[in-house]
Amino acid sequence: MRIAVAGSIATDHLMTFPGRFADQLIPDQLHTVSLSFLVDALDIRRGGVAANICYGMGCLGQNPILVGAVGDDFADYRSWLDRHGVDTSSVYVSQLHHTARFLCTTDEDHNQIASFYTGAMSEAREIELQPIVDRVGDLDLVLIGADDPEGMLRHTEECRTRGIPFAADPSQQLARMNDVCELIDGAAYLFTNEYEKSLCEQKTGWSDEEVLERVGVRVTTLGPKGVRIDRTGEPSLHVDAAPEVRKVEPTGVGDAFRAGFLTAISWELSLERAAQMGNLLAAHALEVAGPQEYTLHRQQFVDRFAGAYGREAADEIAGHVLN
Ligand SMILES: Nc1ncnc2c1ncn2[C@@H]1O[C@H](COP(=O)(O)OP(=O)(O)OP(=O)(O)O)[C@@H](O)[C@H]1O
Ligand SMILES: [Mg+2]
Repeated sequence: MRIAVAGSIATDHLMTFPGRFADQLIPDQLHTVSLSFLVDALDIRRGGVAANICYGMGCLGQNPILVGAVGDDFADYRSWLDRHGVDTSSVYVSQLHHTARFLCTTDEDHNQIASFYTGAMSEAREIELQPIVDRVGDLDLVLIGADDPEGMLRHTEECRTRGIPFAADPSQQLARMNDVCELIDGAAYLFTNEYEKSLCEQKTGWSDEEVLERVGVRVTTLGPKGVRIDRTGEPSLHVDAAPEVRKVEPTGVGDAFRAGFLTAISWELSLERAAQMGNLLAAHALEVAGPQEYTLHRQQFVDRFAGAYGREAADEIAGHVLN
């Protein structure tokens, strides 16, 4: 199966300030604020939902096609993704803007001052899927994740008109978008967490059942409670989260879930196996700080899968994971 993943590509620049912002802000001088915080740590982490999902799929041996817009500062990030099996040839490089960047300084009270620079991401609306099909052949699935809202609508529309199956994964962009019906109607898969599921119903005005009638498979992640999978006319399927997870930092867990899930789908395994693969890859992301900081040891993955979901289930994935 050939899967393309569209969505944001960004880096996070995370700094820590060894003091308290509150001590630096002088209440009667706020009209002329000019502050510079001497920070003593800088962590640069690769992120963006599409890049995170592709990274996870690449670690599992897939060659997903990354679809998104970046700046000409993308070279290092590109080679990292290339090394992990991601097809970055269709990434759109802006002539004008830098790659999207999240800049955040945290003080010792855990207060934060942050900015998000959208940059090149706003040019995702310029990307057409047809040239990608011309390059690689027919796409079996396009995941449309959080991105430039115009771009998300365009990709969805293009999938619908060209008859390309798509997975809707609007996540963070649900809050600010109003055309949510257009994003999810006709999706082969709809991914949300529980909060986003309610937001979807609120923004579309469709009930739980109505949403389900308009998508093939609805996948609702439940944090530590795992995941629920619904299909019209079928009983709900609940799959527990992976046990014994050493929680470090949650950024990117949802994306890693999607990577594991989609990989199992591309191997034509059952939805239950897909959910289990998703849960276990999510556990890997939760156990490190940053969305792409985990390394996947394939044999360990299979062994841990057996411990979590049984030997028989593990035997079904082993041939694929270890090949
Ligand atoms: N505490 C936990 N223990 C084990 N697994 C977890 C835990 N929290 C999350 N997971 C796994 O991660 C998956 C996705 O989690 P969640 O529902 O929190 O996604 P999310 O809200 O989209 O996260 P984010 O947007 O921050 O990446 C869950 O379905 C589960 O498999
Ligand atoms: Mg999420």
